[in-house]
Amino acid sequence: MLLPRLISCLCFLVFCFIGGSQAGYCQAVDVEALTKQMAATPPMGWNSWNHFAEKITDSEVRAAADAMVASGMRDAGYRYVVIDDGWQGQRDAQGIIHPNSRFPDMKRLADYVHSKGLKFGIYSSPGPKTCGNFEGSYGHEGQDARTYAGWGVDYLKYDLCSYESVMKMWDLEHADKASAMMQEAYGTMHRALVKTNRPIVYSLCEYGIGDVWKWGPTVGANLWRTTDDIRDDFRSMSLIGFSQAGLEKYAAPGHWNDPDMLEVGNGGMKPDEYRTQMSLWSMLAAPLLAGNDLSRMDKLTKSILMNREVIAVDQDKLGIQASRLAPLQIWVKPLSGGAKAVAIFNYVVDDQAIPITLHLKDVGFPSPVHARDLWAHKDLGLLHSTYTVIVPQGGVVMLRLWP
Ligand code: GLA
Repeated sequence: MLLPRLISCLCFLVFCFIGGSQAGYCQAVDVEALTKQMAATPPMGWNSWNHFAEKITDSEVRAAADAMVASGMRDAGYRYVVIDDGWQGQRDAQGIIHPNSRFPDMKRLADYVHSKGLKFGIYSSPGPKTCGNFEGSYGHEGQDARTYAGWGVDYLKYDLCSYESVMKMWDLEHADKASAMMQEAYGTMHRALVKTNRPIVYSLCEYGIGDVWKWGPTVGANLWRTTDDIRDDFRSMSLIGFSQAGLEKYAAPGHWNDPDMLEVGNGGMKPDEYRTQMSLWSMLAAPLLAGNDLSRMDKLTKSILMNREVIAVDQDKLGIQASRLAPLQIWVKPLSGGAKAVAIFNYVVDDQAIPITLHLKDVGFPSPVHARDLWAHKDLGLLHSTYTVIVPQGGVVMLRLWP
């Protein structure tokens, strides 16, 4: 008990020495504790990119906020409304960034989102340009952090993009230097955010380069992308999702592996495949950032995004990311109170529903054990030693087991 406390105090002092005197955040802020508290469970919300890309507008963001409330998503736990790339205009003579004409007044937009009981997020890059070729924060980190805080930003996604050319990343002889530069760039923005004294969730997006999961927490990250961009198809989603095996030791309250945003409701996958994404992301204790048009959701999409029993697995306060068992289709996630979530996937591509057998001893339970099916919303009573279930192609059966 004493050791974690000592480490936390040490972090507090280190942060004071690094930049506190000018910043004033030495006053009584334990940065490490605050960082953890901001994302005690994986952040949930919506991000504009997967559906709207760089054409996103003020009115579409307002509509997303409205729909998040009207659909019940807010009450199911979704909170952050995040504008991805495409909001930026030009810098003025003082270097202050202004939004483009699609965003007439960012502060008013943030106020609107806040008035709905939601939180407001934005996007930038440590490079001179973002991936969509809009203005990045290179050389303007402190100024941008202050601008964001002034608008009322609660979440920043910070995307590597053109900083890769600053790093001369592809010069293998200098790979270590490049990696150190990248960490420094992410640390610079973290310190700038802390100096604003506004709690801002910090989301790193650098596609997993340099094993970000190993150093993300040291630059104040609450979440870090582990892979390249997701697409709205089963192959992309399943390759990304199932490749997360082995990263579980890096996830914990305060900082999470981020296998990219949800595609549920965007139309490129079958219902069973979207259930697979929602289940797998929840098993992984991944951030749940919807990426669809919330103002046009059908009943099925709502039922997937708002399956509260599945969300409860994602948001379990222990914050343990699932591990993959052999056989490959079965993943297990310890939950608080001695329960476990078990997800049984069928991701073979031959269009077949297949029977899969779960052996209770493989997931650490002596039989019998209580079971509930989290998609059928049905108690299964007591299971004895094995459970065999037919899993649809591309689909999943997700269980909660408890002694
Ligand atoms: C990168 C990121 C995406 C999105 C775009 C925006 O590709 O990985 O998630 O933010 O940039 O340009």
